[in-house]
Amino acid sequence: MSQPTVPQTFRAIDVIRKKRDGIELSQAEIEGFVNAYTNAEIPDYQVSAWLMAVVLRGMTRPETAALTDAMLHSGDVLDLSSLPAKKVDKHSTGGVGDKTSLVLAPLAAAAGVSVPMISGRGLGHTGGTLDKLEAIPGFNVNLSLAEFRHVLETCGCAMIGQTAEIAPADRKLYALRDVTGTVESPYLICASIMSKKLAEGIDALVLDVKTGSGAFMKSEKDAAFLAGLMVETGERMGKQVVALITDMDQPLGNMIGNALEVVEVVEVLRGGGPEDLRELCLELAGWMLHLGGASKTVAEGKAQSSRLISSGKALEKFRQMVKLQGGDSRVIDDAKRLPQAQHTMPVTSAKAGYVGSIQCEQVGTACVILGGGRERKEDSVDPAVGIVLHKKVGDRIAAGEPVATIYYNAEAKATRARHLIEASYVVADAAPSTKRPLIHRIIGK
Ligand code: URA
Repeated sequence: MSQPTVPQTFRAIDVIRKKRDGIELSQAEIEGFVNAYTNAEIPDYQVSAWLMAVVLRGMTRPETAALTDAMLHSGDVLDLSSLPAKKVDKHSTGGVGDKTSLVLAPLAAAAGVSVPMISGRGLGHTGGTLDKLEAIPGFNVNLSLAEFRHVLETCGCAMIGQTAEIAPADRKLYALRDVTGTVESPYLICASIMSKKLAEGIDALVLDVKTGSGAFMKSEKDAAFLAGLMVETGERMGKQVVALITDMDQPLGNMIGNALEVVEVVEVLRGGGPEDLRELCLELAGWMLHLGGASKTVAEGKAQSSRLISSGKALEKFRQMVKLQGGDSRVIDDAKRLPQAQHTMPVTSAKAGYVGSIQCEQVGTACVILGGGRERKEDSVDPAVGIVLHKKVGDRIAAGEPVATIYYNAEAKATRARHLIEASYVVADAAPSTKRPLIHRIIGK
């Protein structure tokens, strides 16, 4: 791990004030600030103030590069050059019901691409890959780097969280941002994602940048800006990077909540599952296979991924990874072995018509309220709770018909969640005349 490089005169308060006043920070100041926080030399409250100043003031390109570098070098950078296959990862900026990582890692591995995936936990109203994986009893996301390498060498994919060695600065900052309203900054998101991803020793990266009411970047313009920042950062470090701007104006798939999402992942790996989720998985897999040298084109990569699902090879890869990481792989054939909520509650529509829109962030927040995410840094997550949607945008609905079912363990929380979900559904007289595309644009490559 790199040594602290805090200058003699470094004072956190000076760095906070400068950022507050919109003055560009030097590389040394950013590095000093990040190292001081990683080494617990400055408290959460000072870092929270600085993060908020970044959200409000933004960062220049040199500042963003310095922040990414400081976070990347706050820990080790893996050397996976001894593995013969190309190393490719994908990362999403975060959404509601976005469980594609759990499908993609085994799917790309089944095609011979190596996928060393280091993921995060739920952030704000969005779900996190690690929380979903931990819904599988026994699944260990805290492997040592030696164990991570062993799983990767054995089955071609491994999925862990940031170890103490990998981008420890992001680990601390991520948890703090989650509870201080400082997630929504393209500069902080870029540094967070790219520091983790560049530490993985990958050759190429597929980014899924979400846009819409459930994304951190609500407008396509902001999503494209973030995508450009990340592609530029990755290319500066010599990696092949492509970013797909994808739709998050309604939840992806039908299930939201950690154990429920594992159920939907298995459905997709069995060749079923909701169409939007299946289609996005195939598109992202197409890119992973292409950048990983397993297919000449993205279209070929998609077709190959589809065959790997039909043949059951992708599901077998998932089973192998779950077992290697200590998880109970029997959940794949028997979903009842996943954590189960004690109660269910329907959410019904007051009027008849068509679902015109769904306020997606509120649905994500409803899941957090149920206990599926964290409201405070120290909160633990209830893997069993969540929401199953029965109606998506454009669907016809009768008065009194359920739009969703809530899976819960605490009645008061379920009631709060129900109000939010009810308010999220806008029922119109006619279906929307245009359908939002699943893939809005592709940036890079
Ligand atoms: N995902 C990350 O890893 N970091 C962010 O800041 C947002 C989404």
